[in-house]
Parts: sequence; C-alpha cells; structure tokens
Amino acid sequence: MYNILLAGGAGYIGSHTAVELIKNGYNVIIVDNFSNSYPTSIKRIEQITSVSPVFYELDTRDDDFEKVFKENKIDAVIDFAAYKSVGDSVKKPLEYYDNNLFSLLNTLKLMKKYNVNNFVFSSTASVYGNVEEKNLPVKEDHIRKTTNPYGNTKIMGEHIIEDLYNSDKKFNSIILRYFNPIGAHKSGLIGEESTDIPANIMPYLTKVAIGELPYLNVYGNDYDTVDGTGVRDYIHVVDLAKGHLKAIDRLLNNKVGVEYFNLGTGRGYSVMELIESFSKACGKSIPYKITDRRAGDAAVSYADVSKANTILNWYAEHSIVEMCSDSWRWQEMNPKGYEK
Ligand SMILES: NC(=O)c1ccc[n+]([C@@H]2O[C@H](COP(=O)([O-])OP(=O)(O)OC[C@H]3O[C@@H](n4cnc5c(N)ncnc54)[C@H](O)[C@@H]3O)[C@@H](O)[C@H]2O)c1
Repeated sequence: MYNILLAGGAGYIGSHTAVELIKNGYNVIIVDNFSNSYPTSIKRIEQITSVSPVFYELDTRDDDFEKVFKENKIDAVIDFAAYKSVGDSVKKPLEYYDNNLFSLLNTLKLMKKYNVNNFVFSSTASVYGNVEEKNLPVKEDHIRKTTNPYGNTKIMGEHIIEDLYNSDKKFNSIILRYFNPIGAHKSGLIGEESTDIPANIMPYLTKVAIGELPYLNVYGNDYDTVDGTGVRDYIHVVDLAKGHLKAIDRLLNNKVGVEYFNLGTGRGYSVMELIESFSKACGKSIPYKITDRRAGDAAVSYADVSKANTILNWYAEHSIVEMCSDSWRWQEMNPKGYEK
C-alpha cells in the first residue's frame, strides 16, 4: 500500500483529496500547522472514510518536519501548504514569500534527503495573470506573468521544481494549476473554512446567505466581460481532488520529469452569474455591493483542460448548480464552521 504525505492536508483541498485517496486504498499521512484550518477537519475525514489518517501538527518550515520522513516510508508528497489569498499577498508580501517558499524548499530538501521522488505541487491559474482574449481558454504553455505576490510565489515554486529536476532526473513531479475550486463533499462534513474572514468568493457568499456577513463585495463591474464583473472557471473541489488521484497514479507508474496540468472545467462564469446560481441553490437573494477593482485581480480566466483530459484521463463532472448546492449544504450543516 502506498503512503502519500499531504502537507497542508487539513485544509480545504487537502481534506477532500485525503478522502479520495483513502477511498482508493492509499495510506494518507497529513501534516498541518492549522494556520488556516481546524483539527475537526481531520476528525471529519475519519468520519467519512472510517480510517484515521496518520497526523502530525507541525509547520513544514520547521526542523521537526524531518521526523515525518524518519518515521514513515513515503512514496509521494502532495504539497498544499501555502497561504492563498491574492489580496492578502499584496498587503503582506513577505509573509507570503516566507511561508510559500520556505515550506516548499524544506519539503523538497527532505524529499531529496530521504530519496522520495514523487511530488505533486498545488499551483494556480494566477500564474497566467491577465490573459488576453485571443489566448483563452488558457493552455499550460502560456507565458507565466502573474499580477500579485501570491502568484509570484507559485511561479517561483514551479521554477524551483524545474531546477531540481534539471539537477536530478530521478525527481518526478506533476504541477497542478487549479482554477477556482468551490463546492464541498456531498456529506456536508468537510468544506471550505478559513481562520479569518474568507478571501475566496464562495465561503464569503455562504456566510452572507446565513447572515454572518452583511453583503458580498463585488470587486469591479467595468471589466470587458458579459456583465462587467470578473469571469472565473469554477471547479468542484471533489473533481479537483480526483485530479490529484490521477496525478499520483501517473507518478507512481511513470517517469514524467516535470509535467503541468490545468484543472478547471473549461468554462467561465461571471461573479453575477455565480451569485444568481447560488441564490437559486439556497433559495435566498444575496445582498451585494459593487466596489472598486481589487489589486492583482485578472478580468477573465478559464482553462484549456484538454491536456488533463487526454493524458490524465481526468474530466470535471460537476455542474455550477451542484457546486453551489454542495457549498450551501456544507454551510447549512456547519453554521459556525468547524470549531463550534
Ligand atoms: N482554494 C483556491 O482557490 C486555490 C486556487 C489555486 C491554488 N490553490 C493552492 O492550493 C493549496 C491548497 O489550498 P486550499 O484552498 O486547500 O487552502 P487552505 O488554506 O484551506 O489549505 C492550506 C493548508 O495548509 C496549511 N498550512 C499553510 N502553511 C503551512 C505550513 N507552513 N506548515 C504546515 N501547514 C501549513 C494550512 O493550515 C491549511 O490547512 C494552496 O497551496 C493554495 O495556494 C488554492
């Protein structure tokens, strides 16, 4: 049985990936410092799968991360451990560079030391920055030119992985560039939760719907889009989690070097279209205010997913309606989030 280490595995995408890996017969080892998650998510993974993942509470930048490699024979690492808010990264760039790069470097150094050569890296559509209409849907070979520090940390991360491979051809990695994950596990037991006011749109929307936040800020309605609001490629988090399963399977059975895959649906929805879909799912109208554009945001972003379709045999299956109703179920079943 293969042992897969999930760094940052208590978080939103990590917890859903843990469930899919366990369901498919993998042993999962989770490391997290709960900087943006809660211990309850580990218990919920157990509740869904009836399996207790091995768990270490620690920071992947710290020296004691080494004990995870000493105590377990690891076959592959998936690295989710990072800060992820574009807006925050503009305000606190040094914290973003510190966490996102030192955690990656420490993980890779330990992998090298313990001869672990299979690596999946969480990258992002933010690496493409503002993509001109003629280049949409965006392909993996599009130039990397982000508009914010968060995206820079991910571009640097991708370069580090490429340079490592160039120096050591044993190193085998898949870089997944996620578009905009929303939705939650059908059980309503795990979903997107942050320790602060959410920066991503869906957890903000769900908190407006239950009355915890007064209204949604819509950042800009003067973009060159269908209704002036930003367009994004929303993808159900369970589809995304299954993409990791395909990536792990490929790494364990092939030498790939460094491969890149977009994970999205290939279709964009505007913020107003998302609000409309979500309103239908929760049966409430959502108060919102149009405010200025947010620094670092791109106007339109949606993926060409043909590479993941053909090479990984991976397809996003959930519709926007399911994404919205699953997010709403998670929020309704956990009105105060994980902790209470
Ligand atoms: N959610 C998105 O919209 C999105 C989009 C593209 C890429 N990504 C990337 O995917 C990954 C996972 O995102 P997510 O949405 O699950 O975020 P998340 O914040 O829910 O999960 C990240 C987890 O990593 C942990 N963590 C952070 N720094 C750590 C450290 N130094 N040591 C140990 N644990 C640490 C956090 O506590 C959290 O549990 C991140 O790398 C993020 O940048 C996310």
